[in-house]
Amino acid sequence: MLELGGRQRWIHLTIVGVLILVVGASHWMTPTAPHYLHTLHVILRKLFVLPIVLAAIWFELSGAVMVAAIVSLIYVPHIFVQWGGQTAENINQLGEVVTIWVIAVVSGVFARIEKDALRDVAETHKGSLIALVAALDAREHETELHSLRVQAYALRLGREFGLSQPEMQVLGQASLLHDVGKIGTPDAILLKRGPLDDKEWRIMRDHPETGRRLLRSVPFLRDAAEVVRSHHERYDGSGYPRALCGEQIPLLSRVFAVADVFDALTSDRPYHRKITCEEAKEEIQKESGTYLDPQVVEVFLGISCSEWKNIEDQIAQRAQISYRTAVIL
Ligand SMILES: [Fe+2]
Repeated sequence: MLELGGRQRWIHLTIVGVLILVVGASHWMTPTAPHYLHTLHVILRKLFVLPIVLAAIWFELSGAVMVAAIVSLIYVPHIFVQWGGQTAENINQLGEVVTIWVIAVVSGVFARIEKDALRDVAETHKGSLIALVAALDAREHETELHSLRVQAYALRLGREFGLSQPEMQVLGQASLLHDVGKIGTPDAILLKRGPLDDKEWRIMRDHPETGRRLLRSVPFLRDAAEVVRSHHERYDGSGYPRALCGEQIPLLSRVFAVADVFDALTSDRPYHRKITCEEAKEEIQKESGTYLDPQVVEVFLGISCSEWKNIEDQIAQRAQISYRTAVIL
């Protein structure tokens, strides 16, 4: 995450504010004689760069300049009060103010450049993953929007569960990438119209573990890998690969399962015609406690069909503009 969350922003602001106050107050209060205290006085003066550099890292150039201005307001009057009438010392100390501003501007500009570079890398990762998902969706579903819709439905359900921002991020990643393991499933099995034989089922059922292995190798997708691994588990323990049941299944996988079933029922597939949202709600209700977590089903049923339709329309519209609108990072 490159953007600061609201809480994190306040923590950073507090750290910078406290540092300015502590360094400023102790510098003002530390006398310049005797000699050992003068040494401490000078060290404290040097510490003014700390809040400036931190502000540059967290708030870039504007933050660094603002902190440099505050530090200057604290420091400049002190120069004339403490060293009144000693012109040479005043000039020397004013040189410190120049140092403060140079550090603020240079660190602020470099922080901006570094963050832009990191954003570019993140966008490249995101673009690569979404291109991969689009290719997988197009291969199996004859529409490339399945994963994007499931992601949007799952995130809507996730909001009702009060998930934290990192959990929502993992849910978004896992929903989008849930079937990435099917990259290893042959077309003859994946696209087969008739029933699969035992051997074909065994191969098909490998895809959650394959997905987990693929995602685990990417550090920022490691948590999503566990959710992907469990995306075919069933609440009653009849799923795969580990036949987990109830709350043994990660909550995010249980949330995902309802979103996935809803999209499967309300989309045309080679083996069935789509049904309406109201009909899908009835079908999902029937699966409560067997395939699906009753708690998630209850939350799902509490959201109106007009809202689900809105989400579907938004995904279709946004996808026309750009496929890269998915919430993955
Ligand atoms: Fe799957």
